[in-house]
Amino acid sequence: MSHVAYVNGRYLPHKHATVHIEDRGYQFADAVYEVTCIWNGLPVDHASHLARLRHSLTQLRIPMPCSEAALTALQREVVRRNRVTRGTLYLQVGRGVATRNQPFPSKPVKPSLVMVAKHGAGPSEVVAQAGVKVTVQPDIRWGRVDIKSVGLLPNVLAKQAAAEAKAFEALLVKPDGNVTEGGAANAWIVTKDKTLITHPLSNAILGGITRATVMRLAKTAGYQIQERAFSLDEALAAKEMFLTGTTTFVLPVVQVDERTIANGSPGSVSLDLRQRYLDYVNALDDTAWAPI
Ligand code: PDD
Repeated sequence: MSHVAYVNGRYLPHKHATVHIEDRGYQFADAVYEVTCIWNGLPVDHASHLARLRHSLTQLRIPMPCSEAALTALQREVVRRNRVTRGTLYLQVGRGVATRNQPFPSKPVKPSLVMVAKHGAGPSEVVAQAGVKVTVQPDIRWGRVDIKSVGLLPNVLAKQAAAEAKAFEALLVKPDGNVTEGGAANAWIVTKDKTLITHPLSNAILGGITRATVMRLAKTAGYQIQERAFSLDEALAAKEMFLTGTTTFVLPVVQVDERTIANGSPGSVSLDLRQRYLDYVNALDDTAWAPI
C-alpha cells in the first residue's frame, strides 16, 4: 500500500512529499514535533500531545499552523488515508521557509506542517516479556529538552551507540551521575518496596505523555511514586527498571551494558504496569479524537 503524507496543505504520495530547501526546520532544527501512537485506529492521549505541542510552539514563539480542531481533522485524515490501525503518526510544525538568517524572519512566514503515518506500534510482546538491554551514554543535549524540538542529533548519536551495542535504548546520564531519561523514552526504577522513581519534570527531560499516563495508572493501582533524580548507581542496584514512551509503551529493562538488573528478568511491577497500559489503550473509544 502506498503511503500518503500531508505536506503544507496537500496529501502527497510519500516519495513526492518534499519540503523547501530553506525550510528553517531543515536548516536550523527550528521546528517541533509530536509522535502519537495509533492503536486500533485511535490516537493514544491525543489531547495531551496537542497540549505538549502547544507548549513547544509557545516556547519557540511559533504560531499553531491552524486551529487544534483543524489539526485534529488533518491527523485523522492522514490515519484514514494510510489505513493505520496500529502505528504512529508523526507531526512536525516548523517556523516556515525564509532566506537563511538565524533570527526569526522579520516578516512573519507561514508555519510549515508535515504529517507522516507509519504502520507498527510498540515493541513486540516477545521483546517486552523478555525485557531489553540499555547502554549508558552521556547526556550531551541542550538545556531545554522539555521542548520537543527536531534538534535531535545527541539523541541520534546515543541511539546509534545503542544500536551498535545491541541495546534497545540509550540511558542518558549527566556528568553528576544522574540518569535523565532514554534517547526516546522516559526512564523509571522500582525500589525493593515497590516505590516507583522517575526524574521530575524540568528542562532536563521531555515531559513524556506516556510517563504521565503511566503515573496516573500507577497511582490508581496504589503504587507510591517519587519524582526525583536518581543516579546510575541507584539504578544498577534497583529491583526493576523500565522505560515509557509512545513507541515503547511500558518496557522492562533487564540489562544495563554488561550488568543485569536484579535477576535479569522483567520485574512484576514493570509487567503489571505494562498490562495496565495495554488495558488502557485497548479501552480507547471514538472520544479519543477529542477535541474534535
Ligand atoms: N520520543 N524522552 C524523549 C527524549 C523522547 O524523545 C520521547 C518520545 C519520550 C517519551 O515521550 P512520550 O511518552 O510522549 O512519547 C521521552 C518519540 C516517540 C520520538 O522521538 O520518536
